[in-house]
Amino acid sequence: MTKRKPMVAGNWKMNGSLALVEQLSDAINETKSAELDIVLFPPFPLIPAMLKAGVISGSQTICENEPGAYTGEVDAQLIKDLGAQYTLVGHSERRSIYKENSTTVANKFARAQNVGLTPILCVGESESERENALTEQVVAAQIDAVIEKLGVAALKDSVIAYEPVWAIGTGKTASPEQAQNVHKFIRDKIAALDSNLAQGLTILYGGSVNEKNSESLFAQADIDGGLIGGASLKADSFIAICNSAKGTV
Ligand code: 13P
Repeated sequence: MTKRKPMVAGNWKMNGSLALVEQLSDAINETKSAELDIVLFPPFPLIPAMLKAGVISGSQTICENEPGAYTGEVDAQLIKDLGAQYTLVGHSERRSIYKENSTTVANKFARAQNVGLTPILCVGESESERENALTEQVVAAQIDAVIEKLGVAALKDSVIAYEPVWAIGTGKTASPEQAQNVHKFIRDKIAALDSNLAQGLTILYGGSVNEKNSESLFAQADIDGGLIGGASLKADSFIAICNSAKGTV
């Protein structure tokens, strides 16, 4: 069985500054250890500074296309050439505010892998979808869009982040049991196609994770770490969350 390693990722969204890179990177460098992957997703212009400070980094999105006339977009190859290793794809804010559908997200996933970036595929249901018992259906469709385009084997070099939309930035975290149930559903779904791959797949939870709830979330069998928004902008909180992930997988 492939052994998984916990990961804590910080998504700064459209926040942060060079000063914060300096502050956070110092703290991260003191906390880094071989038993935990820590990855930061600052806004594009801060990626070089984050990398220079020694922190593994990625972008929050990429363009699905190869270079060309796409004003304002950022080419995945450029992100890779900077030295970044990851990119988020399909974050719920990209899906809802920028109208990215599952086809676009699958195209971005493919483009990331083409240039050698590891995609972190974000999936999750809205509040009304949960209330209507559609969580599994929604999450399955978001993952199937990638499997249908690229085959299940493409998930081997990727990470999945389950982020219920109703828990993002709201202070309403999924309970450890609620999150575990969806993580298990995702792993079982993929295991039905390739059980080795599913066992080795890192599945992160995101949505109002903080230093108080991270330990109980990360203790769940199928939760391999977290994708942290607001709390990744505060060194003390983020480091406490990182420490709570050590030794949990
Ligand atoms: P919050 O941790 O601020 O809820 O954000 C979660 C998120 O969207 C990470 O990608």
